[in-house]
Amino acid sequence: MNKKTVRDVEVSGKKVLVRCDFNVPQKEDGTITDNRRIVAALDTINYLVEHNAKVILCSHLGRPKGEFKKEFSLEPVAKELSRLLGKEVKLAKDVIGPSATELTNNIKEGEVVLLENVRFHREETDNDPEFAKKLASFADLYVNDAFGSAHRAHASTAGVAEYLPAVSGFLIEKEINFMGNALENPERPFMAILGGKKVSDKIGVIEALLEKVDTLLIGGAMAYTFFKSMGYEVGKSICELDKLDLAREIMEKAKTKGVKLMLPVDTKVGKEFDPNTESKVVKCTQIPKDWEGYDIGTETIKMYVEELKKAKTVVWNGPLGLSEFEQFAVGTDTIAKALADSDAITIIGGGDSAAAIERIGISDKFSHISTGGGASLEFLEGKKLPGIECLLDK
Ligand code: 3PG
Repeated sequence: MNKKTVRDVEVSGKKVLVRCDFNVPQKEDGTITDNRRIVAALDTINYLVEHNAKVILCSHLGRPKGEFKKEFSLEPVAKELSRLLGKEVKLAKDVIGPSATELTNNIKEGEVVLLENVRFHREETDNDPEFAKKLASFADLYVNDAFGSAHRAHASTAGVAEYLPAVSGFLIEKEINFMGNALENPERPFMAILGGKKVSDKIGVIEALLEKVDTLLIGGAMAYTFFKSMGYEVGKSICELDKLDLAREIMEKAKTKGVKLMLPVDTKVGKEFDPNTESKVVKCTQIPKDWEGYDIGTETIKMYVEELKKAKTVVWNGPLGLSEFEQFAVGTDTIAKALADSDAITIIGGGDSAAAIERIGISDKFSHISTGGGASLEFLEGKKLPGIECLLDK
């Protein structure tokens, strides 16, 4: 990575403002259901603590739209972080108000303070310079480690870098190294698996990957738009009728580029959107009118597993079916397990595919699971991420 990291600057005795992405899923009572983003921030925080920095953390949680709302408080995060670090993390009651000012004024070396949810101020998402300046005034150095938010040009993800020397934390460094290497210098065959609902959500990443990969495997609901564009009946399946030309263009482009574009040959359809609905596997050319496609079929799974055996690098974004419902999670789960057993470099980008892998309990079998959803998609698209662009070059 060509950006400076915490290793490249003096942190001892300094007040360091660290932007993390603690946007974690919670139950209604505040229980955190997936703490991976908090765990992913520990390396940087521990490094700063061990090097006697005064650590001031900040993050957003959800989208509270500029006002204090209890359910978006970072209190559960402060508790979980204290548990994981084995030391108290003091939570400020506000972001730039008296509580934050007092805690950051009195912070000692090796201590950790967490400011409240930065999105309690609309100025955060507006990237308001005064707000960024006030946040920056708490610290001597800015560390961005919020990879999941690096595609946002907000005050705490980019704006503060106008007022403080800005470097990356270890998480951003790791994300960029893994995904950047895969894109720039992949061991071949390089394959990408793309799932998810809509072609329109993934068009940027499909186009970018067609320039890089040897094989592109398509799954998820977006496959039905491709089927429709080939003139097949798709029943009640999700389908973007205004994207049929786009789907045809993608297939054409793959041909021109010499990329093997693989589409499902069969699909598991269900009667209705219900976990226990009646289901069956049918050929993609024979989807019944009143059924809806929810997963890739048995033949497709076999075909994809065989193809992936040849891969040396695989990037995967988006589940291949309706993986929240057990009977339609077979495609996603079988492909995930096949990748877990593979010797290839395996990179998972995107919250939904990462969640599926977590659910099966095989997270440790992958080379890298990105903590970014939108951010990893934009990175794979080759877009410049404001939260990374704003950091000092090496
Ligand atoms: C995410 O979960 O993708 C990040 O935390 C960014 O959240 P946002 O989409 O609300 O900006």
